[in-house]
Amino acid sequence: MNKTIQKIFQTGKGILAADESTKTISKRFKVLGVEANQKNISEYRNILFETNNLNKHISGVILYKDTLDQQLVDTKKVADFLKENNMVAGVKVDESTEKFSKNNIELYTKGLDGLKERCDCYYEMGAQFTKWRNVFSVEEGVFPTDEIIDKNTSDLVKYAKISQESGLVPIIEPEILRDGNHSISETKKVFCKVFKALFKKLESEQVQLDSLILKTSFVVSGSELIYDDAESVANETIDIFENFVPKEIGGIVFLSGGLSPSQSFSYLASTVKKAKEIDFTTPISFSYSRAIQSNAMVVWSKNQTNEAKVQEIFFADTEKASKALGQ
Ligand code: G3H
Repeated sequence: MNKTIQKIFQTGKGILAADESTKTISKRFKVLGVEANQKNISEYRNILFETNNLNKHISGVILYKDTLDQQLVDTKKVADFLKENNMVAGVKVDESTEKFSKNNIELYTKGLDGLKERCDCYYEMGAQFTKWRNVFSVEEGVFPTDEIIDKNTSDLVKYAKISQESGLVPIIEPEILRDGNHSISETKKVFCKVFKALFKKLESEQVQLDSLILKTSFVVSGSELIYDDAESVANETIDIFENFVPKEIGGIVFLSGGLSPSQSFSYLASTVKKAKEIDFTTPISFSYSRAIQSNAMVVWSKNQTNEAKVQEIFFADTEKASKALGQ
């Protein structure tokens, strides 16, 4: 698992999150007027994976389970294709979300049943890491209760242990959602509660911290408010890391969470800069889906045969993400 961490956090490289569930990618296709069938989903993803020199900026790819399982690129399994191109294959192992309480806002993530067997199988198929996402909503002024924080952080820890037992580096993703009109300081309070509970449990359950990756949102205001300036985001985000994240974890990667590509690159650049200034030594990178895919997806939706143009736009956005890491 240490080798996997080293491969992922190579200088100037990050993760492509191509693990949208069929439901999620279908929604994105529908908005763009593209029929969301398996053929279109596979063809779109193949175009991304086959981008020339993708490994210049991308060290790992998170796949949806069907992609790891079925999809072929040039008659090769995706995991083998990525490996031959010096990229590490990972797989999303969480399943759909379910209502946790009557308020319809709190959700927990399913997927623990049979997880060990699935992880063993994914390992055999060439995966080297996994991802599990939980969501915490701050919408409508309803802050996450102690009960949902306990449930979701306990499940993240159970998942991390199982993944490591199968030799797969776990990426734990407690996403604090942006939907709503909460201020950056209200978001930060939620981060404090969630990260405190999460890292306390990880330590008491003796999860191997150096073989674990944290995937997190930036500390930002709700999406209904105007964008925060990059310096404030960096200060608040690094403050959370310093206070709650043990330095010995394998690394930290950011999700984009519906921020625009330019905001995602700018917040990443300011946060990496701040980390360097204060000698925060835990590796930091990106694990973006929308920030590096959305422009390419729009171009593809307009002309699905113009692969070269889609790949040009996609490569350019991976390059911008890489530059934000300070290279
Ligand atoms: O789980 C979330 C994805 O892996 C990251 O997606 O960059 O669009 O937030 P995003």
